[in-house]
Amino acid sequence: QKLKLSLDQIEKSGYDHFMLKEIHEQPKAIIDTYRGRMLADEGIIRLSGIDDNINRFLNAERIIIVACGTSWHAGLVGEYLIEDKARIPVEVEYASEFRYRNPIITSKDVVIAISQSGETADTLAAIKLAKAKGAFVFGICNVVGSSIARETHAGAYTHAGPEIGVASTKAFTTQITLLTLIALKLASKKGEISKPQLREFMQEMQLIPKKIEALLKIEDKVKEIAAVYKNATNCLYLGRGFNFPVALEGALKLKEISYIHAEGYPAAEMKHGPIALIDENMPIFVIATSKGHYEKVVSNIQEIKSRAGKIIAIVTEGDTQVREIADHVIEIPETAEALTPLLTTIPFQLLSYHIAVMLNKNVDQPRNLAKSVTVE
Ligand code: G6P
Repeated sequence: QKLKLSLDQIEKSGYDHFMLKEIHEQPKAIIDTYRGRMLADEGIIRLSGIDDNINRFLNAERIIIVACGTSWHAGLVGEYLIEDKARIPVEVEYASEFRYRNPIITSKDVVIAISQSGETADTLAAIKLAKAKGAFVFGICNVVGSSIARETHAGAYTHAGPEIGVASTKAFTTQITLLTLIALKLASKKGEISKPQLREFMQEMQLIPKKIEALLKIEDKVKEIAAVYKNATNCLYLGRGFNFPVALEGALKLKEISYIHAEGYPAAEMKHGPIALIDENMPIFVIATSKGHYEKVVSNIQEIKSRAGKIIAIVTEGDTQVREIADHVIEIPETAEALTPLLTTIPFQLLSYHIAVMLNKNVDQPRNLAKSVTVE
């Protein structure tokens, strides 16, 4: 059979859009991020940017993460990871706020700047400010040799490969992968995690790419859900703990490419405002995986149900309780709680993608948005 592909299709490896290609590249991108760095069976993590500066990290009074957009959401997952595993206080700041609010920064602080492009103007300015105040600045970038990679004292690349779609996907999951390695590395150096625990966690992490592959096969189911809710005008995304930032990112993805208003909230905050919006026209996407405050999220789901809201829940395989209440459920494979963001993110990416396609929007280049924002 003769294959006829246009240049455009070749660039997209046969996918209709770069975004879809990049969503599907995530299993490989995550492996590329941890390859050579995570030696699971030996219980070793090699990150030269951390190893070479280990005392800066171990003596840090706190870590401040600065970033914008999706990278800021990855930073929030990083906060949960580093505090939980390494027990170092972490603050996460929008680079644009940090740089202008006269922040208190000292030489005892470590700043981690996260940026896919490595060119975001606000993040770059935040780094310069932190350096001027004596902080040690570590960069997490995707683009090799980018301005942020050059401006930081040390760093680690995500190795996600080029991300062309304006809506970030594989950059996000590879940033989380790297932040997980950093959290584990610091935890092991500080003696917060034993060697067997570290090994077990890393072995679990090695299963993530295969689990994402399995998850990507549910695309038809996601399309069905997308068809039901594509004309919604407002959506709510709820999650708790490690999955609260995933709720924010889910809402951002939908806004960016389908232009549907969406808000992400920590599930328990729902009663302090968003609950007033719930009616029979409101789709609410809830992350209710088995390990993260499950019972509490189930009671949030019941509150939504009693107000006639439409519930689309992301649950762990085999869940029965939420299935009874929710309008739709999407199952993710079982994993360690701290690793769930790498899985729960995937259905939200696919959902936004398919809604945008159904609405005939320009998925790869949404209106008014730029891939890298090099001006304030
Ligand atoms: C823009 C992009 C987003 C991205 C953000 C931060 O808004 O459209 O996808 O998350 O900038 O970009 P960075 O390259 O610093 O991660």
